Amino acid sequence: MASADERTRTADQALRERARAVIPGGMYGHQSAGPLPPEYPQFMRGGRGARVWDVDGNSYVDLMCSYGPIVLGHRHPAVEAAVAAQAELGDCMNGPGAVMVDLAELLVGTVQHAGWAMFAKNGTDATTMCCTIARAQTGRDRILVARGAYHGAAPWCTPRLDGTTAADRANLGYFRYNDLPSARAAAAEAGDDLAGILVSPFRHDAGYDQELVDPEFARGLRELCDAAGAALILDDVRCGFRLHLGSSWEPIDVAPDLSAWSKAIANGYPLAAVLGSDPFRDGASRVFVTGSFWFSAAAMAAAAATIKALREEGAIAAMRHYGSQIRDGITGQAAAWGFEVNYTGPVQMPYLTFRGDRGHALVGEFAAAAIRRGAFIHPRHNWFVSAAMTDEDLATVLAATDAAFGDLRKNHADQQ
Ligand SMILES: Cc1ncc(COP(=O)(O)O)c(C=O)c1O
Repeated sequence: MASADERTRTADQALRERARAVIPGGMYGHQSAGPLPPEYPQFMRGGRGARVWDVDGNSYVDLMCSYGPIVLGHRHPAVEAAVAAQAELGDCMNGPGAVMVDLAELLVGTVQHAGWAMFAKNGTDATTMCCTIARAQTGRDRILVARGAYHGAAPWCTPRLDGTTAADRANLGYFRYNDLPSARAAAAEAGDDLAGILVSPFRHDAGYDQELVDPEFARGLRELCDAAGAALILDDVRCGFRLHLGSSWEPIDVAPDLSAWSKAIANGYPLAAVLGSDPFRDGASRVFVTGSFWFSAAAMAAAAATIKALREEGAIAAMRHYGSQIRDGITGQAAAWGFEVNYTGPVQMPYLTFRGDRGHALVGEFAAAAIRRGAFIHPRHNWFVSAAMTDEDLATVLAATDAAFGDLRKNHADQQ
């Protein structure tokens, strides 16, 4: 007979227990719920539009969007139809489908700096390929990155050093985001070995208030690369097609030579892309980069359908609209409950912190209270708004966050 504990155990708890026996640490990587408050489910059952369900059937408005890939909402009909039609023909074959050329043409026609496209699976593939292409093209080694920036999980860039060697990072130089003199100093130190500068569209390091790019900084990096004959590489993996239907630096008129894409380009299907300008075509055609699943056609069909839907459905404007409503609602609630908060980043990818909140304790409590009431936000990572949000979803989110501030006020009557 099942014990009382077994009868009250949730499906999520049971899965976590089984996982601990057969998956190292029970779970790994950015989707590990281990470091999050206990309210966070580890295992999910499904999603539709802007809603997701965990394995116990609890429903949430999704403000994490699978940490970025879901941009049009879960199971967007046009994307699902394109994937099903391609899968019916074939997905992983002896060569890519015709859709590879269609998609490359679509990307080259959509992103201003792009003269060509190559494909892979994950964002790390794309950032790594950009560095390899920059080195092949320039014949140099050194790549500059902003200290603390996330560019993926390969040994050269993973934020945890376990299992890596000093040699993995020997050819990196460092600058501070939005600090042009520090980039100039790092470029001077690299001298004639500077192959490229890799930078994200804005500063979105996990756990910190986000910082929009200073256009002067972006222009300064462009000038540094031009002067050195090095590649300006934009890591658009997290922001690409959420902020702008083109490279995220098009609105400030700074064109990279190479850009890395993944997450939102195929609305949740596994695909990454490197886009490049014509002067880097030669280096790109000399490097040997590939993978068993890189040419699978279904994810490419998903990407083509995603890009068309983003345009036809005005998705960027929709995300901006609901993102602004969420920001205005939450910052208004914070003020009404007497909390000083920083709400930073673009409204489609916001992040909330409480002033003076050491160790993320307050935001952890807030996020736990919000998720209990159906708003899936994160205490230490930026959130993602999808174009599938409705007024009803917005009302659910704001009711949840208002009640979460209320809980916080009750528990911290004397704070802030
Ligand atoms: C800016 C940035 N670059 C690269 C990556 C790595 O992408 P992936 O996890 O798909 O390898 C990420 C993932 O979060 C990212 O946010």
